[in-house]
Amino acid sequence: MSEEAAIIRCRGITKKYGSRTVLEDLTFDIRRGEFLSLLGPSGCGKTTLLKILAGIEHPDAGQILKDGADITGARPKDRNIGIVFQNYSLFPNMDVYHNISYALRHRGTGKEETDRRVRGIIGTVGLEEHIFKKPRQLSGGQQQRVAIARTLVLNPDLILFDEPMSALDAEIKAALRKQLKEIQRQMKITMVYVTHDQEEAFALSDRIMVIDDLKIAQLDTPRNLYRHPADPFVKRFIVDHLDEKVKSIEDSIR
Ligand SMILES: Nc1ncnc2c1ncn2[C@@H]1O[C@H](COP(=O)(O)OP(=O)(O)OP(=O)(O)O)[C@@H](O)[C@H]1O
Ligand SMILES: [Mg+2]
Repeated sequence: MSEEAAIIRCRGITKKYGSRTVLEDLTFDIRRGEFLSLLGPSGCGKTTLLKILAGIEHPDAGQILKDGADITGARPKDRNIGIVFQNYSLFPNMDVYHNISYALRHRGTGKEETDRRVRGIIGTVGLEEHIFKKPRQLSGGQQQRVAIARTLVLNPDLILFDEPMSALDAEIKAALRKQLKEIQRQMKITMVYVTHDQEEAFALSDRIMVIDDLKIAQLDTPRNLYRHPADPFVKRFIVDHLDEKVKSIEDSIR
């Protein structure tokens, strides 16, 4: 891959908690503008890898380059990488507008510029009707849109999502997925999305990284993962899982 195609290059990333290795020698690139999902069983290190990319955790070995610059030891706020967690962690006493404008104002952005950007993003995520509501007056899906908007408004080069939809019901999930893909297409933003839901990863991703047993089992397009699983784990975790899903639906309507 050419230098320009990769926004992030990770080389030999290893992470330990105490004496226990959680990730071992991960080497991969994140392509500019792609939607990359990290998929794997509970405890395989997905959140840890996101935190390392965000700079909240530091690797014990290895190097992270962003646009060619070494950011391995850079502070989170110097990376221009946004992160959206599962629990929206909105400010309960602020309305939608102020939840979204807070970080911009904090960075010293002027009032008019802030207003223009906040209103623009509120339109993008479809929260116009709710602009002066407090988080407790919003549904889970609406709150998650505020959390996404709050990150988008800062114009990050890369957004990391840690299971942002796992608390939402199926219908809202599907609608929000669509919206997220649309935002990604429009804003041409690189997104890295952690999930343990195979279907969600397939619905959203340009590429999927399957993590198993400290390592990358396979990093590939959904089509290639399904057609050419690299090892028995990927076969079981992806192909068999999806086949069983389809079969159970067929059985239930027979
Ligand atoms: N701060 C920490 N201190 C010690 N061990 C940790 C810490 N954070 C995570 N771990 C361990 O590291 C491993 C990877 O955790 P991580 O949270 O990255 O998994 P995950 O893939 O995100 O799992 P899940 O799908 O359940 O969210 C787990 O075994 C976990 O217990
Ligand atoms: Mg996790």
